[in-house]
Amino acid sequence: MANTDLSAARVAQKNEFYTQWVDIEREVNAYLEYDPDVFRDKTVLLPCDDPEWSNFTKFFALHFADLGIKKLISTSYAPNSNAGASFYTPTLFELDDPDYDPDKSMERGRVFTLLPHDISGDGRVDIDDLEWDYLDGDGDFRSEEVTALRDEADIVITNPPFSLFRAFVSWLAEGNVQFSVIGNMNAITYKEVFPLIRDNRMWLGPTISSGDREFRVPESYPLNAAGTRIGEDGSRYIRVKGVRWFTSIEHGRRHEPLQLMSMADNLKYSKHREVRDAGYERYDNFDAIEVPFTDAIPGDYDGLMGVPITFLDKYNPEQFEIVGSSEGDYPRTKKYGKKERVVDGVRKKSNSGTLSGAIRVDSFGPGTFFDVGYPVRGVYKRLFIKQRRAQ
Ligand SMILES: C[S@@+](CC[C@H](N)C(=O)[O-])C[C@H]1O[C@@H](n2cnc3c(N)ncnc32)[C@H](O)[C@@H]1O
Repeated sequence: MANTDLSAARVAQKNEFYTQWVDIEREVNAYLEYDPDVFRDKTVLLPCDDPEWSNFTKFFALHFADLGIKKLISTSYAPNSNAGASFYTPTLFELDDPDYDPDKSMERGRVFTLLPHDISGDGRVDIDDLEWDYLDGDGDFRSEEVTALRDEADIVITNPPFSLFRAFVSWLAEGNVQFSVIGNMNAITYKEVFPLIRDNRMWLGPTISSGDREFRVPESYPLNAAGTRIGEDGSRYIRVKGVRWFTSIEHGRRHEPLQLMSMADNLKYSKHREVRDAGYERYDNFDAIEVPFTDAIPGDYDGLMGVPITFLDKYNPEQFEIVGSSEGDYPRTKKYGKKERVVDGVRKKSNSGTLSGAIRVDSFGPGTFFDVGYPVRGVYKRLFIKQRRAQ
């Protein structure tokens, strides 16, 4: 296989990570704890799904009545359009149906709808009452017909394809719907994502904030890939780092304030040696102090602070304002003419783009530094924040 085909195949495989029931349940419960009526009388759309493989449709169909949902819609993507779906088999919903057409099933997406109608006559409304039809197109979320379903919906929930996360978030933002979607932490500073976070139109969900999450992958997924295993049910699973819910649904955690020590106390008692030893350094290229750990934010500092992106797991918009990030949306006080990487005193080709936040140091010691005319050390992506009471 040519290299480009191989990497396209890898991307397609990464689009086929199926969310576990427990992860959906925990997050939905956190929204319900804040507002028990959050789904009541609402139309809920689950795009990029498939009731045979995905837990989202099953979960919301099971809880349709107790959540008081008005209408549940889920859509799936056509196998022929989907390079990752090597595991495709027709769903039981289709095979049992006189309208099932094997050719159409490969080319078209499907739409599944649940209304408060007990079609099966078993005395309750659940997955057995789900009705389905072929879409006109392949079920791409960007298509006109799925976009029309977005516009009909009050809330959109899914784990969208990994490689289309930026496009998916833009599609949600255009739609002016409430949403909750699974993505990777690294997306926080994407230009399609960060402005929504900064403007409090999107935030992180409360139930995934550290560690890895397991997703179910197709049978074709190579078991020797890092983090894969076969579960007791015979299915394959992969562990993924940095997973988060990105949502615009309210929850309690984002209204709990972070308890913080003063700057003086941090300098004396912080559990992080780096803070006790080096204090709060100023960036060489941003007008802010570097705070390397969220729990070391000095509670009495009113100026601008650079914090790790994991700060968002603790972010309370009544306590802090997010004003920018180190990734190009906040003014730098300096542009470096030259930039050379120096590793353990040895000069290397610097293949990373612009240097994010930089902190001036005395000399090139052991570790990685940059020569910008003088030695600096780079820091990983940072968010710039201010305490609210400072205004
Ligand atoms: C990460 S999986 C998650 C599936 C399911 N939502 C879940 O969490 O269990 C993303 C799904 O989106 C589908 N997909 C890929 N590209 C798509 C597109 N352009 N439009 C709609 N769905 C797409 C994939 O086939 C896959 O089923």
